[in-house]
Amino acid sequence: MILDAPRGTERARHILDVEGMTRDEILRLLDLADTMRSARAERTHRTLLEPETIGLAFYEGSTRTRVSFELAARALGATVVDLGVEGSSVGKGESLVDTLRTLERTGVTALVLRHASSGAPYLAARSTGMAIVNAGDGMHAHPTQALLDALTMREALGSLEGRLIAIVGDVAHSRVARSNLHSLRALGARIRVGGPPAWVAGFSGRDGVEVATSIEDALDGADAVMTLRVQLERAAGAGVPSLREYSRSWRLDERRMAHAAPGAPVLHPGPTNEGVELTSDLANGPRSLIARQVENGVPVRMAVLATVTGAA
Ligand code: NCD
Repeated sequence: MILDAPRGTERARHILDVEGMTRDEILRLLDLADTMRSARAERTHRTLLEPETIGLAFYEGSTRTRVSFELAARALGATVVDLGVEGSSVGKGESLVDTLRTLERTGVTALVLRHASSGAPYLAARSTGMAIVNAGDGMHAHPTQALLDALTMREALGSLEGRLIAIVGDVAHSRVARSNLHSLRALGARIRVGGPPAWVAGFSGRDGVEVATSIEDALDGADAVMTLRVQLERAAGAGVPSLREYSRSWRLDERRMAHAAPGAPVLHPGPTNEGVELTSDLANGPRSLIARQVENGVPVRMAVLATVTGAA
C-alpha cells in the first residue's frame, strides 16, 4: 500500500504492503527499478537522496534484504544508519515505538523495518513521522520481495498477464507468498499454490488462486515456479511435515520440472534450506533465477526509497 500525502506535505508516504497497490502503481515501481538499475551502473543519481537519513531496523535476521537496502540507499547518496538491534537499547527492553521515536529525533527521515510481529510497520507509520518501508513483518507481508520477484519474472516472461505462476511449499507461513499473491494477481497472472495440505488449505476458495496438493498437479503447465523456504521458526503444529517428508514429496528437481511449461524458470526468495526445497543442481542450473532475484533487490529498493522520500 502506498499512502500518498497531499502535495506539499512531506514524508507521509509509506510502503507497507503490496495489497491494495494497483497494477499501475506496481508497474511504475518496476519501471523505476529498471531506470535505477541503469543509474547505478552509470553512477548517475548519486545525490538523489543526499538530504535523507535512512534507518535500517532489522529485528529479525536478514542478509539479502538488509544489504540490498543499504546498497540502494548509498547508491543514491543517502546517509545510512543501521540500528544493529543486538547492540541497541532494544536489548534493554525499550519498546518499539520508543526506539523508533528516538531514531526520528536523531534525524532519521525514512525507516526500513523488519519485525517478527505482523503489523509492526503500520504501528511505526502511525506513531512517527518517518516514511516507513516494510522489509517483512511476521507472516504478513514482504512488499519489496514481491516487487523484485515480479521484476525478475517480467524480465524472464515478458508481461505476466494470463501467465500461470506456481508458488510451492510452506505457503501458509510465508509473507513472501502472501505478498506475491497480491502483486502477481494485480499484474494479471493466475496463481496456483501447491504444498502439503496443512500449508495450502487456507487458500482454497480464494479468487484467482488454485490449490494443488501434489507436486505434479502444482507444476502442471506452470510458466514459472517459485518455491519457498520451509519456515522452521514459524511452522509448528498439527499436520506439518518434517523436512524429510517434505523434501521427498515436494523438492523441486529437473525431473519434476518437466511437468511445468518447457523451460519454465525457478525462483526462491532465499535463504534456501539446501536440498530441501530444491536440488542444488536446479538452484544453480540454467532454469534458476535465484541469483537474478538477489541482483534485482538493489534497483527495486532504490525505486522504493526514492518513492517514499518523494524524490522520484
Ligand atoms: C524471506 C523473508 O525473510 O521473508 N527472505 C528474504 O527476504 N529474501 C524468506 C524467508 O525467510 O524464507
